[in-house]
Amino acid sequence: MRIGVLTGGGDCPGLNAVIRAVTRKGVEVYGHEIVGFRDGWRGPMQGLIQPLGLADVEHILPLGGTILRTSRTNPYRNGGAEQVKRTLAEHGVDALIAIGGEDTLGVASRLSEDGVFVVGVPKTIDNDLSATDYTFGFDTAVHIATEAIDRLRTTAESHHRAAVVEVMGRNAGWIALHSGMAGGANVILIPERPFSVEKVCQWVVRCLERDDAAIVVVAEGAVPEDGAERLAGAEVDAFGHKRLGGIGNWLADEIAHRTGAESRAVVLGHIQRGGTPTAYDRVLATRFGVHAIDAVHEGDSGVMVALRGTDIIRVKLAEATVSVKTVPQGRYTEAEVFFG
Ligand code: F6P
Repeated sequence: MRIGVLTGGGDCPGLNAVIRAVTRKGVEVYGHEIVGFRDGWRGPMQGLIQPLGLADVEHILPLGGTILRTSRTNPYRNGGAEQVKRTLAEHGVDALIAIGGEDTLGVASRLSEDGVFVVGVPKTIDNDLSATDYTFGFDTAVHIATEAIDRLRTTAESHHRAAVVEVMGRNAGWIALHSGMAGGANVILIPERPFSVEKVCQWVVRCLERDDAAIVVVAEGAVPEDGAERLAGAEVDAFGHKRLGGIGNWLADEIAHRTGAESRAVVLGHIQRGGTPTAYDRVLATRFGVHAIDAVHEGDSGVMVALRGTDIIRVKLAEATVSVKTVPQGRYTEAEVFFG
């Protein structure tokens, strides 16, 4: 078989580990030919193809980003399944492995219904895909954010300050929840729970009164009870997502204004997505790659590999992309014990 691999949507540490695993097992164990499509779904739309041999994947396991590059292209906006099918036929590609988040896998799901042989691999630092317990990239992002919180605590403490740390998380507050808990944050704000600015200020004052720093971790998609989400720009991407950002700076100003406390905001942004994956993410990504090529080899189209407990299972792509996995109330209640 000739099998194409692509990475779509926001990049994420661990993508190269999947590409390596697919290629190693595909070539060495099954004797298939593996090719890469560049730039997400733009690759199969425009025939941007490159060979993927054993030498190409030799030292990419610890590399962040994606050697295939990525984009937020939506084939259903232009050409659709027919164009993808034409490219695959032209290049003699029998099946596709699509590594992506809700948007990339949503496209994979539709393509599979439209007759393309496709297997999905879940990735996102946001960890918001409901069919899998964890996505690779999340652990790395949480480590980066936790280290930042640890560092901010000592400087904020020295200056009797509030430090507001804005982390990624559009619809789901997983990064904020985990990094906030790991870093001992004094307040964690997530998109799932509109927050009271007054209450946040009370927690901040309580911390500062006992000579502690006040560390507030806020997800980019968090909203105040009587406000709206903060946008970083007016544009929307090919999947209709607005670009979020700005809640951290806004909240730091509100805290300073309402309490008189010195406040600083730090936006971690894309630093959370860059650099080498943690050992956990390397292992998870490698296992996903191995199981994805197994699925293709066995002719199991329209599925996504997923982590359930410690096992890698297969779920239907259609089910996997139906809803976003948000933080349940119970998980937030656990974190609230440590607020203030
Ligand atoms: O991939 C998910 C994500 O990192 C979100 O957390 C964030 O809102 C978005 O991507 C940022 O996208 P971009 O890289 O296009 O600015």
